[in-house]
Amino acid sequence: MKTEKSDRSRKLYERAKRVLPGGVSRNAVFTRPHPTYGMTGAGCYVTDVDGNRRLDFANNVASLIHGHAHPAIVEAVTQQLRQGTAINLTSEVEVAYAEYLTARSECFDKIRFVNSGTEAIMCCLKAARAYTEKPKIAKVEGSYHGIYDYAEVSQASTPKDWGEADHPYSVPVVRGTSSSVLEEVIVIPFNDTEHALSLLDEHTGQIACVLVDPLPHRVGMSPASAEFVEALHGWTRQNDALLVFDEVITYRLEYGGAQDWYNVKPDLTALGKIIGGGFPVGAIAGSSEVMEVLNPLADKVLFPHSGTFSANPVTMTAGYTAMRLFGAGEVARLNALGDIARKQIAEAIESTGIPACVSGAGSLLRIHMKPSPPRNYREAYPAPSETRMIRTLLDYMFRNGVMMINTCSCALSTPMTQKEIDILTETLHEGFLKAREAASESSVAVSVQ
Ligand SMILES: Cc1ncc(COP(=O)(O)O)c(C=O)c1O
Repeated sequence: MKTEKSDRSRKLYERAKRVLPGGVSRNAVFTRPHPTYGMTGAGCYVTDVDGNRRLDFANNVASLIHGHAHPAIVEAVTQQLRQGTAINLTSEVEVAYAEYLTARSECFDKIRFVNSGTEAIMCCLKAARAYTEKPKIAKVEGSYHGIYDYAEVSQASTPKDWGEADHPYSVPVVRGTSSSVLEEVIVIPFNDTEHALSLLDEHTGQIACVLVDPLPHRVGMSPASAEFVEALHGWTRQNDALLVFDEVITYRLEYGGAQDWYNVKPDLTALGKIIGGGFPVGAIAGSSEVMEVLNPLADKVLFPHSGTFSANPVTMTAGYTAMRLFGAGEVARLNALGDIARKQIAEAIESTGIPACVSGAGSLLRIHMKPSPPRNYREAYPAPSETRMIRTLLDYMFRNGVMMINTCSCALSTPMTQKEIDILTETLHEGFLKAREAASESSVAVSVQ
């Protein structure tokens, strides 16, 4: 294993711990014994403060479709910075970008920009309530939708608290979460149409929307089946509820988002990540009829909504530039590269004999220390031995110049080519051997205890 320098990161962390809880502002970047401090990013490579350079398959948790510091984005944003970053007026670039995104996806009649994926999801749920006048929402067990109280229910449930598979409990994430929040969130099992529908039926007349991510990362990163999505859509039509898609991550998967996979369309979609071109962003898009709840021209505004930095011209400029550079041809090229990556990873798994597998679609993939792709959150939930192997693998990859998302996932970016996929899979090959070695050492240690 390569040794790498980490003095400056270690020292920065000593300072950070004194002023930031646990030394960080986002748990996603926390690692032991200390986080690594970034210095620069260019294309698909990042360099940390100690001078270590790594190939970046994390892409800030799938938010950078063009990697780092794309020249056209830097140029456009630099020009905008000189003209002002946040003015208490609306802007031309906001209109142009809204025109562009609504033309890109079939069911986006109207769009409203916000500042994060969390905020986009929160706004979708509030808009659904305002439109239907109903309080409850339904979501898939284990699905991550950010940190709004209702959206985060059961995103991290465990075998100790998750209840029966066909009737999952609503499990809080934060201590002190109101019991009314838990009562108002119906947790449904992923891709299990029969049980999902029967759970929804228990709350007929009370559900504002069913929230679904078409490729839920924490649920195992397998696609929501057409049967499941169509059944949920059908249920919402019969019960005056809305279908909401979380495409904060999956919008990258097709020109018009992963919703292009299905014959039925969501009423509302939450967006984020790549549409910000590297800057904080979120958006809620959907049919004119539902989006009307946000309309300030209405006699009574059903969902009054504002946000100091929403649609700021820097984010709008960066996002508009980035998305125009990610046309249908680039989407297809990156998806094809993802197919190659999954194939090569499967070959590396086979040749090392490790009990692992790879899931995902298009430019997103996830490795599991399980012999076959998990079909739902409970199957995706890693056993302690699997967690140890994943940690060993991620640590090996990081020390050997490849950054991945901490769930052992990768999000590709457009600067990548076959060369980067080969580096990923060759490093993974070695990492699998190390993870297997670590697993057999720990099982020996356990058996001699
Ligand atoms: C599917 C999904 N929805 C929502 C969010 C929340 O987005 P943000 O971190 O921008 O608040 C995330 C973040 O990773 C996500 O993966």
